[in-house]
Amino acid sequence: MSPARPGLFVTLEGGEGAGKSTAAAGLAEIFRAEGLEVILTREPGGTPGAEAIRALLLGDVPLDPLAQTMLHFAARADHVESVLRPALARGAVVICDRYYDSTMAYQSYGQGVSIEAVAALIRLVNLHPDITFLLDLPPQLAEARLRSRAAGSDRYEAMGHDFMARVAHGFQSIAAAAPGRIAIIDASQSPEAVVAAMRETIRTRARR
Ligand SMILES: Nc1ncnc2c1ncn2[C@@H]1O[C@H](COP(=O)(O)OP(=O)(O)OP(=O)(O)O)[C@@H](O)[C@H]1O
Ligand SMILES: [Mg+2]
Repeated sequence: MSPARPGLFVTLEGGEGAGKSTAAAGLAEIFRAEGLEVILTREPGGTPGAEAIRALLLGDVPLDPLAQTMLHFAARADHVESVLRPALARGAVVICDRYYDSTMAYQSYGQGVSIEAVAALIRLVNLHPDITFLLDLPPQLAEARLRSRAAGSDRYEAMGHDFMARVAHGFQSIAAAAPGRIAIIDASQSPEAVVAAMRETIRTRARR
């Protein structure tokens, strides 16, 4: 929150079914009720070009993990430059459903792309969240939520338990290495309690 960036950049992370999209929408509603401009967006996606890349990434075309990584960052660069930076510059609250920690968790910890390669791409994009929420949910609960949502399977959901365990371990490692930025939220609480915990954490940590 430098003077050059008056807005607030919040990201939500975690595995499939943790409740990220639900919590992002709830948090957006709270900030809107407070009279603030809110940009609720997601990755990969958030611009026409990035949504086109999302369709490729979540589709059936096989892609090497490094190629996936670079596509994630291609989409991210477009999103950051055309949506996120301008919104933050005019003082908006930006709430992004997944961001670069997901690329680190899925492509590096999950698929074996070098951590340094992803870290280099993060430096290149060079837009960091003020606060990141890691929605933490035991895998059995996440699976139950996904089953009840009856979502169509995608590339990641099809990858199975070992992969999901590596991703979960990745998120925990990333959070442990960045305790000032990343707050772990107990995602087994009710949606209302999850959103309230996030709002309170923003108040205490980001003084907003
Ligand atoms: N706190 C909660 N308690 C109980 N159910 C929840 C909670 N949050 C979300 N759900 C339900 O769990 C399912 C998954 O939630 P949601 O789509 O928000 O997860 P997600 O993390 O965005 O998943 P994905 O990674 O697949 O996008 C939905 O059916 C949603 O209604
Ligand atoms: Mg979602």
